[in-house]
Amino acid sequence: MTSSFSFVARINKSSKLKKITSILTHNKCNINKVIYNSKIDNNIVFFDIDNNSLELQEELKKSGFMLTSIQEPIFIKLKINIAKQKNPVAKILSLAAKSDVTISFIEYDGKDQHKKDQMTLMLNADNSQNIKIFLDHLKLKFRLSIVEYTPSDDDLGSTIFYINYANKLRKFTGWHDDRLIISFLTEINEIAFSLKKLGYDPEDVFLKIYENGETLLKTSGENFYAEHQILQVTPQTTLHCFQPPCGGNIYLLDSPDETLMIDTGYGIYHDDIMKMLHSLDLWQDDKPKKLFVSHGDSDHCGGAGYLKMVPYSYRGTIDLIKSGNRAYKSINADSRLEHIYTTMIGAFSRWLPPDRQLDFEPADLDKIGAFPVVGRLKACGMDFYVLKSHGGHQYGQLFLLEPDCNLLFTADSMLNMKSISRERARYNQLADLFLTSVNVDRELAKKEREDLTEIAESYMSEGADKFYICCGHGAISFLRNGRLAPALESHHYGMSK
Ligand SMILES: [Fe+2]
Ligand SMILES: [Fe+2]
Repeated sequence: MTSSFSFVARINKSSKLKKITSILTHNKCNINKVIYNSKIDNNIVFFDIDNNSLELQEELKKSGFMLTSIQEPIFIKLKINIAKQKNPVAKILSLAAKSDVTISFIEYDGKDQHKKDQMTLMLNADNSQNIKIFLDHLKLKFRLSIVEYTPSDDDLGSTIFYINYANKLRKFTGWHDDRLIISFLTEINEIAFSLKKLGYDPEDVFLKIYENGETLLKTSGENFYAEHQILQVTPQTTLHCFQPPCGGNIYLLDSPDETLMIDTGYGIYHDDIMKMLHSLDLWQDDKPKKLFVSHGDSDHCGGAGYLKMVPYSYRGTIDLIKSGNRAYKSINADSRLEHIYTTMIGAFSRWLPPDRQLDFEPADLDKIGAFPVVGRLKACGMDFYVLKSHGGHQYGQLFLLEPDCNLLFTADSMLNMKSISRERARYNQLADLFLTSVNVDRELAKKEREDLTEIAESYMSEGADKFYICCGHGAISFLRNGRLAPALESHHYGMSK
């Protein structure tokens, strides 16, 4: 079987497309897929071909068509004095055509008294020799002023959309390797156009992805904030729930001689979370600590590597992380959208997930409710049963049940979405767009929720007056008539909201 090869081609004239296809034909390769939409960017074409030979790649690189760098192009802006000239616009444009320069922008309005003596041109400076010839000719007839210029998006419209976009991706990911960013751009483009089949406008998809990266960047650092709930679980142990601006909750159990962190939040918030915990005196360097990771989504495990702690978790979660696919071992494991979404969120949120885990102590029970018990976790004077989910939200996701303290940590199988702010809900829209559901298997996820509810209800019917559901997102809640309601008030941490 022949392997395929994807590349991004830069074209500024349709004749170049013909040249690319003749190189491909000459190398006897078939084009599997082409994506070109001049409304988005009239200079960039995405190709997928059935030939991955290095010779062909070299030839494409040498031809200058293959995009290998995303350096923002430099443009030259010319202000041309055309006072007292006869038919100046036609003269200038004919000179430009003869010199074969690429014009990105023209501004001339002969009806405006203030502007009629001036014409503004913007040239793409990718061929300096042609520009020199053009300017030399132009100077013979007109007075010019020239400014080297990097334009804003508004000036360019659809001329360098992808290059600009790739540079934003660089900012969001922190990656320096252009090849990596170009391949990431190809994947995002693939998503944007495959969602088009479902009725979404690719431009909206690009915008949503941009907003996602930007929101993560904007809410980290000095703009970081969190909602904070405090629950006194025993006289010695306090449970803290932190909801960061985006992504999953971070829980912290604090006892006089130990700290247990349950999920880490996104990697991009690591420094902010540490600063917050230090300021609340909840992260003391000399106190022993344990870390538990519920599942492999970046908003729950992406900070583990920064903590330099090996977490307690399910072994399969490490396999899932290594696979780079949040839908690993699920019915949607082959979905490209799941795969690309995993890469994208991981990159934007600067994830540094765990690469190994610690096993749990053996348990005295095989099953609680519908869930297998995979072990016990003892920390902060508590004794948790570790339950393995059905894999509805994600393969390998774990729950924690502390029967004596009436605590159930449900990870992303029970969420109190009603308790989250509008900003957080907006951020979550991207996952809805990409994945239609954040659960890798909807039916199993529904069963998971029902089975967790059954456990909570069984504790309540046995006389537990308060049974706390510690959700993956949203406030610590009580279950009331099948619905989640915040169990405690929240305090706001941070300057922003
Ligand atoms: Fe989550
Ligand atoms: Fe999740």
